[in-house]
Amino acid sequence: MVFLNGRFLPIEEAKVPVLDRGFIFGDGVYELVPVYSRVPFRLDEHLARLERSLGEAKIRNPHSRAQWRSHIHRLIDAQPFDDQGVYFQVTRGVAKRDHAFPGGVEPTVFMMSNPLVNPPQAQVERGGSAVSAQDNRWLRCDIKSISLIGNVLLRQLSAEADAAETILFRDGKLTEASASNVFIVKRGVIFSPPKSNLILAGITYDVIAELARADNLPLEFKSIGEDEVRSADEIWVTSSSKEVFPIVSLDGKQVGDGKPGPVFRRMYRLYQEFKQKVMRSGKREAVSAA
Ligand SMILES: Cc1ncc(COP(=O)(O)O)c(C=O)c1O
Repeated sequence: MVFLNGRFLPIEEAKVPVLDRGFIFGDGVYELVPVYSRVPFRLDEHLARLERSLGEAKIRNPHSRAQWRSHIHRLIDAQPFDDQGVYFQVTRGVAKRDHAFPGGVEPTVFMMSNPLVNPPQAQVERGGSAVSAQDNRWLRCDIKSISLIGNVLLRQLSAEADAAETILFRDGKLTEASASNVFIVKRGVIFSPPKSNLILAGITYDVIAELARADNLPLEFKSIGEDEVRSADEIWVTSSSKEVFPIVSLDGKQVGDGKPGPVFRRMYRLYQEFKQKVMRSGKREAVSAA
Protein backbone atom coordinates (compact mmCIF):
# COMPACT_ATOMS: atom_id res chain seq x y z
CA MET A 1 0.00 0.00 0.00
CA VAL A 2 1.38 3.41 -0.99
CA PHE A 3 0.03 6.97 -0.76
CA LEU A 4 -0.50 9.17 -3.79
CA ASN A 5 -2.21 12.57 -3.65
CA GLY A 6 -4.47 11.84 -0.69
CA ARG A 7 -5.28 8.20 -1.53
CA PHE A 8 -3.92 4.91 -0.21
CA LEU A 9 -3.64 2.33 -2.99
CA PRO A 10 -1.58 -0.67 -4.19
CA ILE A 11 1.74 0.41 -5.75
CA GLU A 12 0.72 -1.09 -9.13
CA GLU A 13 -2.19 1.35 -9.26
CA ALA A 14 -0.16 4.44 -8.29
CA LYS A 15 0.45 6.37 -11.51
CA VAL A 16 1.92 9.84 -12.11
CA PRO A 17 1.44 11.74 -15.40
CA VAL A 18 4.58 11.98 -17.58
CA LEU A 19 4.40 15.78 -17.35
CA ASP A 20 4.93 15.69 -13.61
CA ARG A 21 7.79 18.12 -12.95
CA GLY A 22 9.44 15.50 -10.77
CA PHE A 23 9.80 13.30 -13.88
CA ILE A 24 10.63 16.15 -16.29
CA PHE A 25 12.95 18.32 -14.15
CA GLY A 26 13.63 16.44 -10.91
CA ASP A 27 11.71 19.40 -9.48
CA GLY A 28 10.86 18.16 -6.00
CA VAL A 29 12.11 17.31 -2.53
CA TYR A 30 12.00 14.17 -0.39
CA GLU A 31 12.52 12.59 3.01
CA LEU A 32 13.29 9.16 4.37
CA VAL A 33 12.26 8.35 7.93
CA PRO A 34 13.48 5.20 9.65
CA VAL A 35 10.83 3.32 11.61
CA TYR A 36 11.80 0.82 14.31
CA SER A 37 9.15 -1.60 15.62
CA ARG A 38 6.55 0.68 13.97
CA VAL A 39 7.82 3.75 15.87
CA PRO A 40 9.07 6.51 13.53
CA PHE A 41 12.48 7.80 14.63
CA ARG A 42 12.78 11.62 14.87
CA LEU A 43 9.65 12.19 12.80
CA ASP A 44 9.26 15.83 13.83
CA GLU A 45 12.83 16.58 12.79
CA HIS A 46 12.27 14.92 9.40
CA LEU A 47 9.06 16.88 8.92
CA ALA A 48 10.82 20.11 9.89
CA ARG A 49 13.53 19.38 7.31
CA LEU A 50 10.86 18.62 4.68
CA GLU A 51 9.19 21.96 5.44
CA ARG A 52 12.55 23.69 5.09
CA SER A 53 13.37 21.93 1.79
CA LEU A 54 9.94 22.85 0.41
CA GLY A 55 10.41 26.45 1.52
CA GLU A 56 13.86 26.72 -0.09
CA ALA A 57 12.53 25.10 -3.29
CA LYS A 58 9.50 27.41 -3.19
CA ILE A 59 7.11 24.46 -3.46
CA ARG A 60 3.85 24.87 -1.55
CA ASN A 61 3.57 22.47 1.37
CA PRO A 62 0.29 20.66 0.68
CA HIS A 63 -0.15 19.29 4.23
CA SER A 64 -0.05 20.54 7.80
CA ARG A 65 2.36 18.84 10.22
CA ALA A 66 -0.61 16.97 11.73
CA GLN A 67 -1.73 15.73 8.30
CA TRP A 68 1.77 14.51 7.44
CA ARG A 69 1.95 12.66 10.74
CA SER A 70 -1.42 11.05 10.22
CA HIS A 71 -0.64 9.89 6.63
CA ILE A 72 2.71 8.51 7.73
CA HIS A 73 1.21 6.58 10.65
CA ARG A 74 -1.47 5.14 8.40
CA LEU A 75 1.15 4.06 5.89
CA ILE A 76 3.24 2.43 8.63
CA ASP A 77 0.18 0.55 9.94
CA ALA A 78 -0.60 -0.75 6.45
CA GLN A 79 2.73 -2.58 6.08
CA PRO A 80 3.19 -6.22 7.18
CA PHE A 81 6.74 -5.58 8.54
CA ASP A 82 7.85 -3.68 11.67
CA ASP A 83 11.13 -1.96 10.72
CA GLN A 84 10.47 0.39 7.84
CA GLY A 85 11.95 3.17 5.76
CA VAL A 86 9.17 5.63 4.97
CA TYR A 87 10.04 7.51 1.79
CA PHE A 88 7.99 10.54 0.80
CA GLN A 89 8.40 13.13 -1.90
CA VAL A 90 6.65 16.28 -3.04
CA THR A 91 7.04 17.62 -6.57
CA ARG A 92 5.91 20.96 -7.94
CA GLY A 93 3.12 19.16 -9.81
CA VAL A 94 1.98 18.45 -13.36
CA ALA A 95 2.20 21.16 -16.03
CA LYS A 96 3.19 21.78 -19.66
CA ARG A 97 6.99 21.65 -19.84
CA ASP A 98 8.44 25.07 -19.07
CA HIS A 99 11.25 25.80 -16.60
CA ALA A 100 9.42 28.68 -14.88
CA PHE A 101 6.97 27.77 -12.10
CA PRO A 102 3.49 26.93 -13.39
CA GLY A 103 0.52 28.75 -11.87
CA GLY A 104 -2.37 27.06 -10.09
CA VAL A 105 -0.82 23.61 -9.92
CA GLU A 106 -1.25 21.14 -7.05
CA PRO A 107 1.99 19.60 -5.73
CA THR A 108 2.25 15.83 -6.23
CA VAL A 109 2.69 13.86 -2.99
CA PHE A 110 3.91 10.28 -3.05
CA MET A 111 4.78 8.08 -0.04
CA MET A 112 5.83 4.47 0.27
CA SER A 113 7.31 2.34 3.00
CA ASN A 114 9.87 -0.40 2.45
CA PRO A 115 11.56 -2.80 4.87
CA LEU A 116 14.38 -0.96 6.65
CA VAL A 117 17.74 -2.58 6.02
CA ASN A 118 20.43 -1.39 8.44
CA PRO A 119 23.98 -2.72 8.03
CA PRO A 120 24.06 -6.19 9.63
CA GLN A 121 25.99 -6.56 12.90
CA ALA A 122 28.79 -8.60 11.25
CA GLN A 123 29.36 -5.83 8.71
CA VAL A 124 29.42 -3.18 11.45
CA GLU A 125 32.03 -5.20 13.33
CA ARG A 126 34.18 -5.55 10.21
CA GLY A 127 33.69 -2.02 8.94
CA GLY A 128 33.53 -0.98 5.29
CA SER A 129 35.67 0.70 2.70
CA ALA A 130 35.21 4.03 0.95
CA VAL A 131 36.68 5.80 -2.04
CA SER A 132 37.02 9.56 -2.38
CA ALA A 133 35.99 11.95 -5.15
CA GLN A 134 35.73 15.65 -5.87
CA ASP A 135 32.36 16.99 -4.78
CA ASN A 136 31.05 18.32 -8.08
CA ARG A 137 27.40 18.73 -7.06
CA TRP A 138 25.50 22.00 -7.05
CA LEU A 139 25.90 24.49 -4.20
CA ARG A 140 22.52 23.83 -2.52
CA CYS A 141 23.25 20.43 -1.01
CA ASP A 142 21.30 21.60 2.07
CA ILE A 143 18.06 21.07 0.11
CA LYS A 144 16.96 17.42 0.12
CA SER A 145 16.22 17.53 -3.59
CA ILE A 146 15.07 14.57 -5.69
CA SER A 147 17.50 15.79 -8.41
CA LEU A 148 20.10 13.27 -7.33
CA ILE A 149 22.11 12.65 -10.50
CA GLY A 150 25.23 14.20 -8.91
CA ASN A 151 24.93 11.92 -5.88
CA VAL A 152 24.07 8.92 -8.08
CA LEU A 153 27.18 9.34 -10.26
CA LEU A 154 29.37 9.75 -7.16
CA ARG A 155 27.84 6.75 -5.38
CA GLN A 156 28.45 4.64 -8.49
CA LEU A 157 32.22 5.22 -8.12
CA SER A 158 32.17 3.38 -4.79
CA ALA A 159 29.70 0.77 -6.01
CA GLU A 160 32.12 -0.09 -8.83
CA ALA A 161 34.97 -0.31 -6.30
CA ASP A 162 32.80 -2.59 -4.13
CA ALA A 163 32.98 0.07 -1.40
CA ALA A 164 30.29 1.30 1.00
CA GLU A 165 30.51 5.03 0.24
CA THR A 166 32.14 7.82 -1.74
CA ILE A 167 33.63 10.48 0.55
CA LEU A 168 33.59 13.94 -1.01
CA PHE A 169 36.03 16.84 -0.96
CA ARG A 170 35.37 20.32 -2.30
CA ASP A 171 38.32 22.75 -2.60
CA GLY A 172 40.41 20.45 -0.40
CA LYS A 173 37.81 20.28 2.38
CA LEU A 174 35.60 17.41 3.50
CA THR A 175 31.91 17.94 2.71
CA GLU A 176 29.96 14.69 3.18
CA ALA A 177 29.51 11.36 1.36
CA SER A 178 27.24 10.52 -1.59
CA ALA A 179 24.31 9.56 0.69
CA SER A 180 25.55 10.18 4.23
CA ASN A 181 27.38 12.60 6.53
CA VAL A 182 30.97 12.02 7.61
CA PHE A 183 32.64 12.20 11.04
CA ILE A 184 36.31 11.65 11.80
CA VAL A 185 38.10 10.98 15.09
CA LYS A 186 41.58 12.30 15.86
CA ARG A 187 43.23 11.70 19.25
CA GLY A 188 39.87 10.97 20.85
CA VAL A 189 38.10 14.09 19.51
CA ILE A 190 35.18 13.70 17.07
CA PHE A 191 35.04 16.20 14.20
CA SER A 192 32.53 16.87 11.43
CA PRO A 193 31.99 19.75 8.99
CA PRO A 194 29.53 22.39 10.21
CA LYS A 195 26.10 22.71 8.59
CA SER A 196 26.21 24.85 5.45
CA ASN A 197 24.89 24.94 1.89
CA LEU A 198 27.56 22.32 1.02
CA ILE A 199 26.07 19.44 3.03
CA LEU A 200 22.71 17.98 3.87
CA ALA A 201 22.03 18.53 7.57
CA GLY A 202 21.46 14.89 8.51
CA ILE A 203 18.95 13.98 11.18
CA THR A 204 21.39 11.23 12.21
CA TYR A 205 24.22 13.83 12.33
CA ASP A 206 22.18 15.75 14.93
CA VAL A 207 21.50 12.57 16.93
CA ILE A 208 25.24 11.75 16.96
CA ALA A 209 26.00 15.28 18.22
CA GLU A 210 23.38 14.99 20.99
CA LEU A 211 24.62 11.55 22.04
CA ALA A 212 28.23 12.75 22.13
CA ARG A 213 27.27 15.77 24.24
CA ALA A 214 25.17 13.68 26.66
CA ASP A 215 28.07 11.24 27.08
CA ASN A 216 30.77 13.93 27.42
CA LEU A 217 32.57 12.81 24.27
CA PRO A 218 34.47 15.78 22.80
CA LEU A 219 32.95 16.81 19.46
CA GLU A 220 33.77 19.82 17.32
CA PHE A 221 32.18 21.07 14.11
CA LYS A 222 34.87 22.63 11.94
CA SER A 223 36.20 22.79 8.43
CA ILE A 224 38.24 19.59 7.84
CA GLY A 225 41.09 19.35 5.34
CA GLU A 226 41.57 16.34 3.07
CA ASP A 227 44.88 15.52 4.82
CA GLU A 228 43.09 15.40 8.20
CA VAL A 229 40.62 12.85 6.83
CA ARG A 230 43.41 10.74 5.35
CA SER A 231 45.32 10.74 8.65
CA ALA A 232 42.26 10.28 10.91
CA ASP A 233 42.22 7.54 13.54
CA GLU A 234 38.58 6.76 12.68
CA ILE A 235 36.11 7.66 9.93
CA TRP A 236 32.35 7.15 10.28
CA VAL A 237 29.47 7.72 7.92
CA THR A 238 25.97 8.41 9.26
CA SER A 239 22.51 8.29 7.76
CA SER A 240 19.00 7.13 8.58
CA SER A 241 19.62 3.78 6.92
CA LYS A 242 23.35 3.29 7.71
CA GLU A 243 22.90 4.67 11.27
CA VAL A 244 26.56 5.09 12.26
CA PHE A 245 28.93 2.95 10.22
CA PRO A 246 32.73 2.66 10.42
CA ILE A 247 34.96 3.19 7.37
CA VAL A 248 38.16 1.19 7.84
CA SER A 249 39.78 1.82 4.46
CA LEU A 250 39.83 4.92 2.26
CA ASP A 251 41.08 4.69 -1.34
CA GLY A 252 42.69 1.36 -0.47
CA LYS A 253 44.60 2.78 2.53
CA GLN A 254 43.85 1.51 6.03
CA VAL A 255 42.12 3.96 8.42
CA GLY A 256 43.74 3.83 11.90
CA ASP A 257 44.50 0.18 12.62
CA GLY A 258 42.04 -1.01 9.97
CA LYS A 259 39.35 -1.94 12.51
CA PRO A 260 36.33 -0.01 13.84
CA GLY A 261 37.82 2.23 16.54
CA PRO A 262 36.99 2.61 20.23
CA VAL A 263 35.13 5.92 19.83
CA PHE A 264 33.02 4.37 17.07
CA ARG A 265 32.20 1.36 19.21
CA ARG A 266 31.09 3.61 22.04
CA MET A 267 28.95 5.76 19.72
CA TYR A 268 27.44 2.68 18.07
CA ARG A 269 26.41 1.36 21.47
CA LEU A 270 24.95 4.74 22.51
CA TYR A 271 23.00 4.89 19.25
CA GLN A 272 21.57 1.38 19.69
CA GLU A 273 20.62 2.11 23.31
CA PHE A 274 18.92 5.34 22.31
CA LYS A 275 16.96 3.54 19.58
CA GLN A 276 15.82 0.93 22.11
CA LYS A 277 14.62 3.66 24.46
CA VAL A 278 12.70 5.40 21.68
CA MET A 279 11.09 2.10 20.68
CA ARG A 280 10.14 1.26 24.23
CA SER A 281 8.67 4.69 24.85
CA GLY A 282 6.69 4.38 21.61
CA LYS A 283 7.35 7.99 20.73
CA ARG A 284 10.08 10.43 19.85
CA GLU A 285 12.26 11.43 22.79
CA ALA A 286 15.04 13.93 23.40
CA VAL A 287 18.43 12.42 24.24
CA SER A 288 18.59 14.20 27.59
CA ALA A 289 15.23 12.71 28.62
CA ALA A 290 16.10 9.21 27.42
C1 LIG B 1 23.78 13.55 0.69
C2 LIG B 1 23.30 13.08 2.02
N1 LIG B 1 23.91 13.54 3.13
C3 LIG B 1 23.52 13.14 4.36
C4 LIG B 1 22.49 12.22 4.54
C5 LIG B 1 22.11 11.78 5.93
O1 LIG B 1 20.87 12.30 6.32
P1 LIG B 1 19.96 11.57 7.41
O2 LIG B 1 20.84 11.32 8.60
O3 LIG B 1 18.89 12.54 7.70
O4 LIG B 1 19.48 10.29 6.79
C6 LIG B 1 21.82 11.73 3.42
C7 LIG B 1 20.71 10.80 3.58
O5 LIG B 1 20.11 10.32 2.67
C8 LIG B 1 22.24 12.17 2.12
O6 LIG B 1 21.62 11.71 1.02
